[in-house]
Order: sequence, then C-alpha cells, then structure tokens
Amino acid sequence: MSANIRDVAEKAGVSVGTVSNVLNHREKVSPDAVRRVREAIEELGYVRNDAARQLRVGRSSTVGLVVLDVRNPFFTDLARGAESEAARHGLSVILGNSDDDVEREAGYLDLFEEQRVRGILISPYREIGPHLRRLRARGTPAVLVDRRSEDEQFSSVSVDDDHGGWLAANHLIETGRRRILFTGGPFDIRQIVDRQAGARRAVDGADGVAFETLPTPGASVADGRSTGDAIAARPRQDRPDAVFAANDLIAMGVLQGLAGRGIRVPDEIAIIGFDDIVFASAAVVPLSSVRQPSQLMGETALRVLLEEIDDPTSAARQIVFEPELVVRASTASAMPGPATGR
Ligand code: RIB
Repeated sequence: MSANIRDVAEKAGVSVGTVSNVLNHREKVSPDAVRRVREAIEELGYVRNDAARQLRVGRSSTVGLVVLDVRNPFFTDLARGAESEAARHGLSVILGNSDDDVEREAGYLDLFEEQRVRGILISPYREIGPHLRRLRARGTPAVLVDRRSEDEQFSSVSVDDDHGGWLAANHLIETGRRRILFTGGPFDIRQIVDRQAGARRAVDGADGVAFETLPTPGASVADGRSTGDAIAARPRQDRPDAVFAANDLIAMGVLQGLAGRGIRVPDEIAIIGFDDIVFASAAVVPLSSVRQPSQLMGETALRVLLEEIDDPTSAARQIVFEPELVVRASTASAMPGPATGR
C-alpha cells in the first residue's frame, strides 16, 4: 500500500501538520524540518493525493490560465510571470491554449471548473462569453489578462494597445515614412483592433501620410510572410514605405517575405512590430517594436486573482500598463520628418 501523510510524519519525526506545511506553506517550516520531511517523502515514495485534499477543502491548489496562442513568446513570458507568482503562494498553473478558437476556450473553462481550480486568468478570443460569466457566477474568480475588460465586473491587466499603436505609427512618421501599411488579424482580437486605431490616430494627426490596412487570418509568422509577399508583388510605386505589424511574429514574417524578394529593410520599407518578444532583437534586421511588460502583466494578474480569491467581494480593477517604444535597425531613419503631437 502506498505511504500516506502519517507515515511521512512518523518517519520524519514531525507532526502531520508540519508535513502539510512543507507541502503547502514551506515558508512556515524550519529548514531542518523541510529536509527531514523531504527525505522521508523520498524514502517512502509518498505522492500527495490532491483529489482527496480537493474533496476536503473544496478547491485544488491550481490556477487555470487560457492564452490565445501558446506558440507566441509573448504568452509564454506572460505565463512565466503568472507561474512564478503562483509558486510564491504554493499554487501551480495549468495552461490552456485556445488557439483563437472560442470552442477550445470554452472547453478549457469547463475543464478548469471540473478541476476546481482556485481561479482563472484568461485572454479571451472575443468578448467575455457566457461560459466565463457562468463559471464566475458559480464561484470561480476570473481575471482578464492581455485585454482590458469591457465589463467592469471583471478585473483585467493589460497594456494600452491604442497608445502602443500610436507610438508605432508616430515613430514611422518621425523617421520620414509617408505610406504606412498596418497588417494583422484576426480582428476578433480587440488588442489588434486597438493597435490599428492608435496607428490611425497618429496618421490623422500628421500631414501628408497615407494609411492602409492589409488584414491577415491570424497573428503568426506565416501570416506576416503572406503580407510580405503581397507587398513585394506590387509595382514598386504602389508599395508602402513602412509596415506596422500587429505583433512581432507577424513582423518577422513580413521581414522574411520582403527580404526573400530582395526588398531592403529599412532602406526601402521599414518594419515595426508589437510585444518586443525575445526574437525581435535577434532578427536578421533587428526589429523595432512596442514593448509589453509581459512577465510583469502575468505576475500582476495572478496577484489580482489571489486578492479576489481571498475576498470575492473586492471591487474589480482595470490595471493598464504603458507600452514602450523600442527602436532598432528595422526602422532606421529614412529622412528627418516633422514632429507630431499626440
Ligand atoms: O495574440 C495577438 C497579440 O495579442 C499577441 O501578439 C499579443 O500582443 C496579444 O496582446
């Protein structure tokens, strides 16, 4: 028969409560007791039965996190932040990838509720759906991350995407670009819509700047490559002199598409992305971008969720971080341009 928590306590010469604290609140236990309990667990091959604990306390020691695209380093950095904060509180994070699909998103919400997670962080694909509302009404706290909540009942942690879009386009204008193409999608993702709106605002606030949008089905490198190919297929005089991509993965694809057709970046066409993922600076032409504090957003969202777990009556909060322009070679100045006001 497998060892139980009482066997571990006896072997380690401590109380059952001390073993439980080593497992759940290590900061409360002396290093010597932690060592003895860990040695006993190792020797006895004890494995905690979380299902039994869940039955007793009604909740697991996990938090659910649903992201839009797990391939995107922005979301892995965000998950890393949430996970490190969860670990500081003796919790684990279960990651779900919705892949921009509302059915998959709903499936993860159901799974997390069945698993009795303590709470959920989610970057919803569209608006807050009935699944999330029902789950929350049944007692599972939920915080939006990466997207400002359109419903004041839900807390959210996000970046000011509209201002980030303005920063990107204004930077292109200030480096002398006059024909800006925004590319990205799907436009079900509010973050992308807000970035385009901010860029449009910067163009409208400047003189003599043309703006067009080339939508993409998704937000991947392949989507960006398609945009690069489409631009390269145009007669030279019909091409933009700058591309603002809705995120860095798309921007890297645009760079690949243009470079593959012999179009020089930034001399002929400048490119700027969004997120400032680790690969942006490592691109063959280091990419300018608009940085999101992705890991800090994940940590902050987890902290907000823990506060709501501890006090479900606490008022919902919208925490919005400021984006930061990061200038690299892909937007090196073509010529001095006029200053523009916000
Ligand atoms: O998923 C599309 C984009 O939205 C990501 O790149 C990230 O910027 C998120 O905010």
